[in-house]
This record gives sequence, C-alpha cells and structure tokens, in this order.
Amino acid sequence: MTAVAVIGLGTMGLGIAQVFAAAGYTVLATDSHEPARANALDRIATSLAPRVEAGKLSSIDRDAIRSRVQIVDGPEAMGQAALAIEAVIEQLPAKQSLFAALEQVMAPDAILATNTSSLSVAAIAQGLKHPDRIIGLHFFNPAPAMKLVELVAHPGTAPRALDTARALMQPTGKTVIDCPDRPGFIVNRCARPFYGEALALMEEGRTPAEIDAAMVQAGYRLGPFSLIDLIGADINLAATEGLNRAMDGHPRYHVFDALRAQVASGTLGRKTGRGFVHPDPLPPAPQDAPAIVLRIEATLANEAAWLLAEGGTTRDGIDTALKLGLNLPRGPFDCLQAHGPATIAAELARLEQAAPPHLKTRYLPPPDGLTA
Ligand SMILES: NC(=O)c1ccc[n+]([C@@H]2O[C@H](COP(=O)([O-])OP(=O)(O)OC[C@H]3O[C@@H](n4cnc5c(N)ncnc54)[C@H](O)[C@@H]3O)[C@@H](O)[C@H]2O)c1
Repeated sequence: MTAVAVIGLGTMGLGIAQVFAAAGYTVLATDSHEPARANALDRIATSLAPRVEAGKLSSIDRDAIRSRVQIVDGPEAMGQAALAIEAVIEQLPAKQSLFAALEQVMAPDAILATNTSSLSVAAIAQGLKHPDRIIGLHFFNPAPAMKLVELVAHPGTAPRALDTARALMQPTGKTVIDCPDRPGFIVNRCARPFYGEALALMEEGRTPAEIDAAMVQAGYRLGPFSLIDLIGADINLAATEGLNRAMDGHPRYHVFDALRAQVASGTLGRKTGRGFVHPDPLPPAPQDAPAIVLRIEATLANEAAWLLAEGGTTRDGIDTALKLGLNLPRGPFDCLQAHGPATIAAELARLEQAAPPHLKTRYLPPPDGLTA
C-alpha cells in the first residue's frame, strides 16, 4: 500500500490527509503541536459526518478512511512515504527545515511537496540536497470539497517528479493544473482583477450591490463583493497586499483604499455579520450592467494573458483553474473569445486612457497583445 505523508494538521493538512485517505492511501500524518496530533482522527470523523448523515458515505467507509490515517510523532517516522506534503505555518525557515529533515529519511525517488500559498517553491527548495524533487501541490480550502490542485514546478524541478506527482494525485479525483512558480500561482493571481476592478468602480461612485447584481445577471454565482464577504475582507486584503509586494507594487495589483477602509471599519463580511453587501439582498441589475461586466472581464482576460506570456501554463489550464478555484462561470480566455480580442483591447485602452495617475499602466496588455 503506497503511503503519503502529511505534515501540519491544521485547516489544510487535515483536509489533505482526508483526501489521500479517501483515495485509498495509507496516510502518515503529524503536527508539531501535540493536541493537533491527538485530536486529528476525531476531527477527520467530524469533517466526514455531514456526508454520512446525508447518506453519501457509509459509516463503514468513514471508519475505513479514518483507519488509513496513522498519526506519527514526526518526520523521522515518514521514511516509507512516496510523497510528503507539508501544510505547516506559512514561514520559509519552518518549511525549509522540515524538508531538510524529511530528506534525511525519505527514499531518493520520493516527492516532497509544499502547500504554500505565497512563498516561492524555488526559495523553499534552496539549500536542499535534492531540489529537483521539490514541487508545489496547492490545494484549496476546503481541500476535500475543492476539485482544483495547482501543481507547481520551480525551475529546478525534474519532469520525473511532476509525472510521479500527477500519477499519485490521480486516485484523488482532483483536477491537477500545471502552474509556474510565480506569485499567487494561477488562481490567487488571476483573481485579483475580479475584486480590484470592482473596487475601482466603487471608488468611482458605483455601489457594491449594483456591481454584484450586474455580475450575477451575467451568470456569476457571486459578485466580487459577495465573494469578498464570504472570504473575509481582511483575508482578501492580506492576499492583495502579498501579491502587490511580490509584484513590486505594479498597479495591476493595486491595493484599493475602499478595501482598506472596509477592513478598518470591521465589517469584514459573513464572519462579522456585515460586509460590502452581506446580509442585504441584491437590487435589480443596473441598466449599464453589460458595461460593468465587460470592464471586469477585460481586466481578468488581461491578467491571464500576462501570466500566460510568462510561461509554464496554458489557456485551458488558466480557464479551468479559475472556474474550479473561484467558481467562475467562464474563464478569462472564454471571456476574451466571447467579447472578441478587439473589444477587450479597446476597453483596456479606454481604461488606460482614463486611469488616474496611481493606476497608470494597470490596463496595458502584454507585449504580444491579446489573442483569442
Ligand atoms: N487556509 C487556507 O485557505 C490555505 C489554502 C491553501 C494553502 N494554504 C497554506 O497551507 C499551509 C497551512 O495553512 P493552514 O491554513 O492549514 O494553517 P493552520 O494554522 O490551520 O495549520 C498549520 C498547522 O501546522 C502546524 N505546524 C506549524 N509548524 C509546524 C512544523 N514545523 N512541523 C509540523 N507542524 C507544524 C501547526 O501546529 C498547525 O496545526 C500554509 O502554507 C498556507 O499558506 C492555506
């Protein structure tokens, strides 16, 4: 029986352990915090309970999933695993020293994966004896429910490590999308304009509710502000600030004052009972809803085109990642095709021309332009 190791049994690690156990793997799981180890199996059972109650999972299968997870004291007990995934604290030294310890015990052909959201996989691999087997496997929260996993290669990752990782992921049923080792990977980066352009419209005087209503009318399950309310404005701000820093403050990753003000006001979204639009119902879509949708979709297409031009991913990969990771009804390249590159280019040119000084260059397309 192939074993998968999971280190860090918080929100993500516990979900990842459940994913691999449900796929039939033996999971060797650990956490540096003793209580997290002690209650991990109970937390997995609790996480599976709604599916058992809904009749979607038998109690026998639940027990089988649980019994495949073995809690161990630390990395030294993980030598037999074919793949180790870390979901520990988001700090570079913690991840580097963990991988250094894993390298001591794991087989030479075993794969070491990080679930980092914001660190560079290359930086994590630096200083290790075998950086060629270090990859990113970026799961989304909640890991058992979200179909998407971004498979991140850093420049030194061996193709063999990627092939092995894809093969090991196959039984989990996840959709694995190749992704370059760039800040925000695919989803967290290409999602920025969805929120950012909505915030730009808000700063120009539009209300969050009418912007969301326009997007919902166009087929989006949630508008940008309702999505921020769901995630939490503070979490969205931290993600935006992180990407802004990683991209040297480029205006495409501008941190809008409207978002900062929302966080400062404490109305963070569902978790505080009030957000940009939550809990109020949306009004009817405004008359110029198609113009709002075009503007947001044009900037989504532009960001995706910039990422594509940097290499390491594909149009289909980006579209699939955003549909699965952000629940969008169509990907940025679907939008490009639907509106037509000429319409999108004209919209971006209009926005660039009208941009205030702090947003100048935000709307410029990549050097090779936009092609459907
Ligand atoms: N929460 C999310 O939505 C999300 C989504 C994708 C990726 N991630 C990434 O996943 C990782 C974990 O995030 P989380 O939200 O699950 O965090 P968390 O705080 O819920 O859990 C982290 C766990 O790691 C343990 N830990 C810390 N240092 C350790 C070490 N050196 N060895 C073993 N265990 C250690 C902690 O005790 C804790 O139980 C981070 O890298 C984060 O960026 C988070």
